Amino acid sequence: MNILSVQDLGKNFGGLTAVKDLSFKLKQGEILALIGPNGAGKTTVFACLSGFLRAEQGQVILEGQSLWGLSPHQICALGLARTFQIVRPFLNISVLDNVMVGAFLRQKSVAKAREAALKVLDFMGLARQAHKEAGGLPLPQRKRLELAKALATGPRVLLLDEVMAGLNPTEVDELIALIRDINRQGVSILLIEHVMRGVMALAQRVLVINYGQLIAQGTPAEVVGNQEVIAAYLGRGLKHA
Ligand SMILES: Nc1ncnc2c1ncn2[C@@H]1O[C@H](COP(=O)(O)OP(=O)(O)OP(=O)(O)O)[C@@H](O)[C@H]1O
Ligand SMILES: [Mg+2]
Repeated sequence: MNILSVQDLGKNFGGLTAVKDLSFKLKQGEILALIGPNGAGKTTVFACLSGFLRAEQGQVILEGQSLWGLSPHQICALGLARTFQIVRPFLNISVLDNVMVGAFLRQKSVAKAREAALKVLDFMGLARQAHKEAGGLPLPQRKRLELAKALATGPRVLLLDEVMAGLNPTEVDELIALIRDINRQGVSILLIEHVMRGVMALAQRVLVINYGQLIAQGTPAEVVGNQEVIAAYLGRGLKHA
């Protein structure tokens, strides 16, 4: 069964086509990776799915319900949560309070929201940071906090935007284990990731986009050997060199 279905998604920024005719499905319980060179349109796809940007074209269906025209808050309430590539916690409040903001979506009392948030922090290995100011956390813990905030909203589908960027190999491995655990608890995951170690370890399928369009899909092993994918990465790399 498909939990999320995207059909012919299109998004322009003025004259720039960021996403074009993009169609894919996320299966219930799946971990699907979305990869592509810098500027390929990956984050824009997330922004459209989660209601932060309005797509000009296409259909997004979450568990049989169209997300067209809904606000980020409404989409989150329906069970789709995202993290941000550029982590943006509320800096001058505590880590716990940051996560409680997410927890309030499902929990109606302060006590219940606090309890739920503490559970998520414990799971994410951030329990000891609960009462620290979020702004004081080093990057690896900020990345975890970003995930904790999304997790506290009780998602059925989680969109993770480069949660492994900037982490060392040990930290990457820890995050891989955590994401696997989240998935085992029944959360379907769409993952944008440049850290191929993470993609190879987690994803059952990979979508590759370039200039906003799907250029390949398959198992991780299939796409890394795909000539068009290699050319897309090299082409962009040379342009930026
Ligand atoms: N708000 C915006 N206004 C105008 N152009 C934008 C905006 N957001 C993104 N773009 C452009 O749209 C294209 C796709 O950007 P996007 O951030 O989605 O790429 P990405 O695949 O996430 O890249 P990266 O791997 O570097 O994060 C780029 O050319 C980018 O410059
Ligand atoms: Mg991006």
